[in-house]
Amino acid sequence: MGRLPFIAGNWKMNKTVEEAIDLVKGLKVHLKGIEDVEVAIAPPFTALYPVAQELKGSSIHLASQNLFWEGKGAFTGEISPAMLKEINCRYAIIGHSERRQYFGETDETANRRIKAAFNHGLKVIFCIGETLQEREGGIAFSVIERQLEGGLKELGEKAVEEMVVAYEPVWAIGTGKTATPEQAEEVHQFIRQKLERLYSKRISEGIRIQYGGSVTPENIKGLMVQANIDGALVGGASLNAESFSRIVRFKEM
Ligand code: PGA
Repeated sequence: MGRLPFIAGNWKMNKTVEEAIDLVKGLKVHLKGIEDVEVAIAPPFTALYPVAQELKGSSIHLASQNLFWEGKGAFTGEISPAMLKEINCRYAIIGHSERRQYFGETDETANRRIKAAFNHGLKVIFCIGETLQEREGGIAFSVIERQLEGGLKELGEKAVEEMVVAYEPVWAIGTGKTATPEQAEEVHQFIRQKLERLYSKRISEGIRIQYGGSVTPENIKGLMVQANIDGALVGGASLNAESFSRIVRFKEM
C-alpha cells in the first residue's frame, strides 16, 4: 500500500490573524478538489482558532508548531495538548530545529512532548536533522540516529504508526540551499531502516518521511520522485497561497 503524500506548511512566527485568514482563503481556492495529497498548515498560536473556523468543511488539516507535555497548571507561556485538540488541531510539529537551537529543546524534551501528543490523540510531525558542522564532521547519520532513539524512547508501535518524521537538515532551512534529492533520499532511507530496526517492517514502511529545508515549487518534484520522500515540511514558501499550492500540486508539473 502506498504512502499518501503529505505537504505541511510551517508558518513559524509569521502572519497576524487578518493575514492568516487571507492566506487560508487563498489556499482554499487554490487547493480545491485536492485529494491525492494530504495538506496541513501550522499557523502561530494566536491564529490557530480563527484559522480552525475558516478551515471548517475543507480538507486542509490544522497543525500546531509546538505543545507542552503537562495537562494544565502554572506553566506560563505554554499550550497544552487538550487546548489544541479542542480547536480541531490534528498534528503537532515537535522538535523543530529552531526549537532546539533557540529554545533549549532536546531529544528528551521532544520525547516528552511526543508522548503527551500521543496520549491526547494528536498526531506528531517529529523533526530531526543535522547541522552543517555535523554534516561536515561526518557525523550526520549518528546525529540522526541519536535524535530518533532519543525522541522515540519508550514509545510503542501504536504511538509511532501514525507519526510523520520530517528530515530537515539545519543547513538547508531558510538558506535557499536545499539538499539535493539524492542527499535527502540517502538520509530518508537511513531513517526508514532505523525505524525498521527499532520497530518493524510494517511500521517503517507505513511511516511518512517529509523533507524540509528550502522547499520551493521549483525543487519539489525532484524530491518527491525519490522512493523514500513522502512529502515536505515547507517554511518560507508556505507563506504565500500560490507558491504553497504549487508545491502541493507537484504531480501536475
Ligand atoms: P524553509 O523552512 O522552507 O523556510 O527552509 C523549513 C522548516 O523549517 O520547516
